[in-house]
This record gives sequence, structure tokens and C-alpha cells, in this order.
Amino acid sequence: MRLRSMLFVPGDSDKKFAKASGIGADALILDLEDSVVPSMKIEARAKVSALLDNQAPRDWRFFVRVNPFDTGMTFDDMAAVVKPGLDGLLIPKADSAADIERIGEELDQLEAAAGMAIGSVKIAVVATETAKAMFNLGSYTPAHPRLVALTWGAEDLAAALGATANKEEDGSWTSPYMLARNLCLFAAGSAGVLPLDTLYADFRDPEGLERDCRRARRDGFVGRLAIHPDQVAIINRCFSPSEQEIAEAQMIVDAFAAQPDAGTLGINGKMVDIPHLKAAQKTLASIA
Ligand code: COA
Ligand code: MG
Repeated sequence: MRLRSMLFVPGDSDKKFAKASGIGADALILDLEDSVVPSMKIEARAKVSALLDNQAPRDWRFFVRVNPFDTGMTFDDMAAVVKPGLDGLLIPKADSAADIERIGEELDQLEAAAGMAIGSVKIAVVATETAKAMFNLGSYTPAHPRLVALTWGAEDLAAALGATANKEEDGSWTSPYMLARNLCLFAAGSAGVLPLDTLYADFRDPEGLERDCRRARRDGFVGRLAIHPDQVAIINRCFSPSEQEIAEAQMIVDAFAAQPDAGTLGINGKMVDIPHLKAAQKTLASIA
């Protein structure tokens, strides 16, 4: 599943949904959690449920961010949105893979009741929003069959810890949040699922977003969360390989295919070996 950009759309806003559809995001995250105030939760749930009934062709995936277990709303949210239009759930404030196990079992029941293929609803997890979660990032390996992506969040973690800030004066993450980011990246790599970077809150700073996306992609993230429509095109561009990268990847794959007995080759004066081949195959797979 290609998830370069996942745009949050508050579940109670018809206007924002109208704006978000067709904007080019790989996925829309219809949000029932933090962007919806408690008095609007039930209405948002009904709205999101109705949106998923629309069978019109679309070029994006629908994810729903449900409320976390400590609210007591998770299973009612799921009951309202598990239907054929749903591609995945985003699980906030997860403590460990045990939470995903519980969600998965509930999904089995709901899919069966809705006449859907068991396993069709995928799961993405915000894996660093509680202090406890930081000690359980390894629990996502081996990956639950429904798990497709891990992402991370700095705001709820900071709130949970009572931190007064999570950014340095230059805008970079302070070290506890850099640790959360980095461990999310490794946890996703270990589980073999997509590592997605967190959101970039300053939605009026396209240059800053672009710089931040380039750093994320350099380090191995394959996409990120978005909060504003203006961020989507920048994110998609940054997390797509350039023409030149695709051409180079193809050259490496072709060179190894032409010499199946070679573990290492020289291409344009540079040594290329198996890790380069794997990276090239990954690049080509990402556009397939
Ligand atoms: N999805 C769809 N449409 C959005 C949007 C989003 N996430 N964010 C903004 N828009 C729309 C606005 O409604 C506005 O539409 P209009 O031109 O028809 O009036 C347009 O895009 C421009 O918005 P702008 O005025 O620049 O921003 P804003 O002040 O209206 O909204 C936020 C700013 C942060 C409130 C808004 O971007 C938002 O709700 N983001 C998502 C928040 C969220 O879901 N957070 C949960 C994850 S932490
Ligand atoms: Mg939150």
C-alpha cells in the first residue's frame, strides 16, 4: 500500500471533507479522536459512517482514526465505520501490539457481520503517544497481519510527560522526541511495515515542510501525516523517487540481472553490491 501522504480530516467537518477529497492525498484519515470535541463525537461518528457509504470511484484510501481504549468509545467507533468503504484504521495512543491484537479480533467479527473479507481492513498505529509505548516498540515484530504502517506523535507524548516543550529553538525535536522518532523508524523496519513520519504542524511553512520531508526520506521514512491540504503536494513530491533515482535504480537492477553470478559490480566507477540492489528494488517497487 502506498501511503506517502495521509491527510487528517476532522470527522465533524463536511466542509473540510469536501475540500480534502480529490486533493491528491494517498489516504484521508477521517478523524474521530483529538480534532473532534466530546460534544461532537457521536455526530462525527455518524457523518464518517455515512461518508464511507459513498461508492463513487476515488483515488485515495479511507482510514478512520478511532478514539483510544481509555475513552471507552473504540469499539462503538469501529462498529460504525467497518463497512466495505473502509481501507484501514489509525490507532492512537496504543501501548503495544497487544492493543492491535484486540482491535484485530474485533475487526474479524465486524468484517464477518458486514460481509467483508476477513483481514481487508488494515491497521496503522501511532506508536509513541504514551510513555509505556516507548518500551514496547519491539512488540510490533512479528507484525500483525493487518499492520501496514507505524507512525509517531510528539504532542501526546509531551503532554503525558508534562514536558514544557518538545522542540528546540531552531525547530528541531528535543532529544526525547528524536528518540521516539528514531525508534518508530526502527520498529517499522523491524516489523517490515511502512515507517511514516509525524505531522509538520506549521502549515504556513512550505519550505520548512519540504526540508523536514527530505530529512525524513533520507533516513528511511516513506511518507508522513498531513494536517492541511497545502501540505499534500509537497509531501507526495518529497516521498516519490525522482526520474533520476528511478533511472539509476533500473540500471542497478538490470546490471545484476545481466550478471546473475556477481555479488558486486562496478557501475560508472562506483562499487555496487547487494544492499544497493535491495535499495534499487525498493525504489522500483515504490512506484509499481
Ligand atoms: N482537510 C480538509 N480541508 C482543510 C483542512 C484539512 N485538514 N485544513 C484546512 N482545510 C480547508 C479549510 O476548511 C479552508 O477551506 P475553504 O477554502 O473552503 O475555506 C481551506 O482548507 C484553507 O484553510 P486555512 O484557512 O488555511 O486553515 P484553517 O485555519 O481553516 O484550518 C486547521 C487550520 C489546522 C484547523 C486545519 O488545517 C485542520 O483542521 N487540520 C486538521 C486538524 C486535525 O485533524 N488534527 C488531528 C491530527 S493531530
Ligand atoms: Mg493526539
